[in-house]
Amino acid sequence: MEKPFRLAVLGSGKGSNFTAILDAVRNGRLAAEVALVVADRADAGILETARAAGLETFVIEEPQYRTRLSPEVEEQLVAALRARGVELVVLAGFLRVVKNPLLTAFPERIVNIHPSLLPAFPGLEAWKQALDAGVSVTGCTVHLVDAGIDTGRVLAQAEVPVHADDSAESLHARIQRAEHALYPRVLAEWIAEIRGRAP
Ligand code: GRF
Repeated sequence: MEKPFRLAVLGSGKGSNFTAILDAVRNGRLAAEVALVVADRADAGILETARAAGLETFVIEEPQYRTRLSPEVEEQLVAALRARGVELVVLAGFLRVVKNPLLTAFPERIVNIHPSLLPAFPGLEAWKQALDAGVSVTGCTVHLVDAGIDTGRVLAQAEVPVHADDSAESLHARIQRAEHALYPRVLAEWIAEIRGRAP
């Protein structure tokens, strides 16, 4: 049997996508194991979920910047990921822009989920952007991470309707439900593709 693919999950928040990924691992829909859970703040809910599941956690200390990591801190992160044999880096609500050396260390191996149908509404609070724009359909996108903000190659998308009486909260909750179905499925597909390429 193939060894499970080793994932690191990086987040800053409550980690509901991480929970969906863990569920998929547990019930065999995702042939992977979570080798490390990383957060950039010690109070991130994703860490609690990880600890409750008995997974190893790593908290990034970055005193210098709020929306990115300094190259030195990214280097430490790369070392931690390499030391654990991580094969795919999964961003799940990680509120920092990923740069080098992380990008070059994991080419095509960093994946993100974004709460809109990219290229529409990149950046923060995409569900609010969709409401403000008055669109009737929005959604979520799983994409590879490159040096831009929400610009990497799209792997898959799911559409979500916007209702006339939606608040930002109700729309965000509907998008998140779609994310929880989409992300584990696309991760499984991407892992299968990477494995298929291996010599
Ligand atoms: C998700 O809505 C995702 O689209 C965005 O950050 C949010 C993370 O939510 N990138 P959670 O921490 O997984 O609940």
